[in-house]
Amino acid sequence: MICRILLLIILTSCVSGSFVVNVTQTSYQAEENHNITLEWTFTTKPDRSTKTLNILCELFNSHKSSVVYHVHEGVEVSESQDEKFSGRVQSDKDALREGRIRLQLSRLRTDDTGLYLCEVNTDYGFSVGRCQLNVTAADELPLSPRAERRRNISFSAGVLLLIGIPAASAVALFVCVFWVIFCKSG
Ligand SMILES: *[C@@H]1O[C@H](CO)[C@@H](O)[C@H](O)[C@H]1NC(C)=O
Ligand SMILES: *[C@@H]1O[C@H](CO)[C@@H](O)[C@H](O)[C@H]1NC(C)=O
Ligand SMILES: *[C@@H]1O[C@H](CO)[C@@H](O)[C@H](O)[C@H]1NC(C)=O
Repeated sequence: MICRILLLIILTSCVSGSFVVNVTQTSYQAEENHNITLEWTFTTKPDRSTKTLNILCELFNSHKSSVVYHVHEGVEVSESQDEKFSGRVQSDKDALREGRIRLQLSRLRTDDTGLYLCEVNTDYGFSVGRCQLNVTAADELPLSPRAERRRNISFSAGVLLLIGIPAASAVALFVCVFWVIFCKSG
């Protein structure tokens, strides 16, 4: 997989010229179950039709790749899409005509985290753009100061209980022994 990414990067630098694929943001941060829109822009030629447009957007993570979005000869090919993205990717067709790939990913999952690569191939050039998406689990969010305080209070109460009960028992035992020794004998 690493080889493939490297190959793509090398290929793009070789074919570099007037055709580019840019990302509007190199890294994104989102929370599980939320939506996010990833965006790439590519060089357009006003005199060319989008018929010769081929796009392949893939996610690379934990040693595998999955197809997020595929356009062949200007037509979206939903069959190529990995089933984990089925029904969760929405592309903006108007933006596409203006050279912008806008993919809305909905109901984000933590395993959507990874490197997103879009290869764009036209009869006037080929290039790749990439961005990183991190999806954090909803319960991994840092505790609010109030929740943190509440946790500290219950922790203190627990410690008190833990130390308090044996201490109270010891005092009671001591009083009993004292009473037996002094009061009974006296
Ligand atoms: C995410 O997108 C879906 C449909 O695209 C929408 O129904 C839902 O309300 C959105 N959720 C958030 C948190 O924006
Ligand atoms: C890509 O980025 C470069 C440098 O920021 C900019 O000059 C160029 O217009 C951009 N091209 C597209 C198609 O977004
Ligand atoms: C995403 O995660 C990677 C690896 O854990 C980290 O290097 C990177 O800074 C993170 N990016 C963001 C935007 O949080």
